[in-house]
Amino acid sequence: MKPSLIPLPKELRYTGGRSALRDDCPVTVTDAPELPEESYTLQIKNGAVQISASSEAGLFYANATFMQIKATCGGVCDDLVVRDEPALRYRGFLIDSCRHFYGAEELKRLLDAAAQFKLNRFHWHLTDDQGWRIEIKRYPMLTEVGGYRSNSRFGGVDEQTPHAGFFTQAQIREIVDYCAERSIEVIPEIDMPGHFTAAIAAYPFLGCTGERIEPTQKEGIFPNVLCVGNDEAISFVKNVLDEVCDLFPGKHIHIGGDEAPRAHWKSCEKCTEKMKRLGIADYDALQGGFMKEIASFLREKGKTAITWNESLKGGVLSPADVTVQRWMDRKNICRAFAQAGGEWIESDFYHYYFDYPYGMTPLKKTFAYDPFKACGDRPPVGVEGALWTEFVRSFDDLCEKLFPRLLVIAEKGWSGSDSRRYPDFYAAVCALLRTVPLKTLPPGRWDPRVSARLKEVKKFFRGSLSSETLRQALDSRK
Ligand code: ACM
Ligand code: ZN
Repeated sequence: MKPSLIPLPKELRYTGGRSALRDDCPVTVTDAPELPEESYTLQIKNGAVQISASSEAGLFYANATFMQIKATCGGVCDDLVVRDEPALRYRGFLIDSCRHFYGAEELKRLLDAAAQFKLNRFHWHLTDDQGWRIEIKRYPMLTEVGGYRSNSRFGGVDEQTPHAGFFTQAQIREIVDYCAERSIEVIPEIDMPGHFTAAIAAYPFLGCTGERIEPTQKEGIFPNVLCVGNDEAISFVKNVLDEVCDLFPGKHIHIGGDEAPRAHWKSCEKCTEKMKRLGIADYDALQGGFMKEIASFLREKGKTAITWNESLKGGVLSPADVTVQRWMDRKNICRAFAQAGGEWIESDFYHYYFDYPYGMTPLKKTFAYDPFKACGDRPPVGVEGALWTEFVRSFDDLCEKLFPRLLVIAEKGWSGSDSRRYPDFYAAVCALLRTVPLKTLPPGRWDPRVSARLKEVKKFFRGSLSSETLRQALDSRK
């Protein structure tokens, strides 16, 4: 029997003969320092398994491949040699713990499944307007006040119940360790200066108005931004990041930088005074300068900051400052950044945002997208699928939205843009999704027909569909 594998290995050769794959089959592991990080070889011959790797990650991935072989070969496998290494070093997925909160045990189940497909970056969105979900010892109100909202009304659905929760530092360390055992780096996101309502609800001096507010109950973009003209507010953010850096040993810290409205800055004395004092030309540059200051603070602590693509608008951030995550870049600013040598991660809204229904983002559409070309001829350092949770009201729904679409990220990130044709990928997904012990969407719903797609999309947006979204849904029948 030939196995089904996701991601497709770089090289897979059948050598003749067959092996029974008993649980006690002999396994030899060889240290191979000449192999790159994450790479491995795996040979199955005469009922025995030989693995070589130079790192824990390589061993982990060899084992993941072997598990998929065992799961899909029905006990007898054609003898083979796999020589494997990833196309991209960053293969990620984002979970938004703010809008709807799912706890550590649920996250672990997701992490188990993701690791099985060689995903290696968990982007953990921990702060937003609707909830602050990471314990910060120095500022307990962030979670006491910012971690609680009295109701949720996303998409006009009144949930009529409070929503609360946060991860203690002990739980975070446990998740980080859990990920390390699966060769996954955890990248926390502390979103700033926008998406800051929950923090301002906890500590009103962080905002420009000083007004008392509450964490937000709806989806959207909200005016409550960090007052970047206030030195005390900037020190507060750095103190938070001190604790964040201690908790997360990985190289990257995501500092957000998306969707920050300018209205409060425009009428703020402190922000206006700072702009005059420093000769800052406009609000994009004000944000860019702030992001640059935070990125350099992190660099001194040995970290690389990641920002969403909006932060490039002011023209302040250079490739030396940050890695950029592209999600919606109508003016191609990210492309210019990439052309200037900047490192970027691809998370295209129309293809890699998995919070939308399959009617809007079918599996086939996600698969057909070429992430390597989004910034012209400069390839990304990574790809990432995003699962925002405004409209995700159960863990089962979250899992269905992720699986199987997340497997495309695994495939493109590891195997490159043109690994195989869609029908072959589809067949492998059918074979392997059975091994994922989560609620996954059944095959008949991965690629709905156009009429069903429109119905799904309209239902999802409950009549408030923007013309652009509808156009996208119609445009993407591939
Ligand atoms: C984003 O979706 N606002 C990054
Ligand atoms: Zn201000």
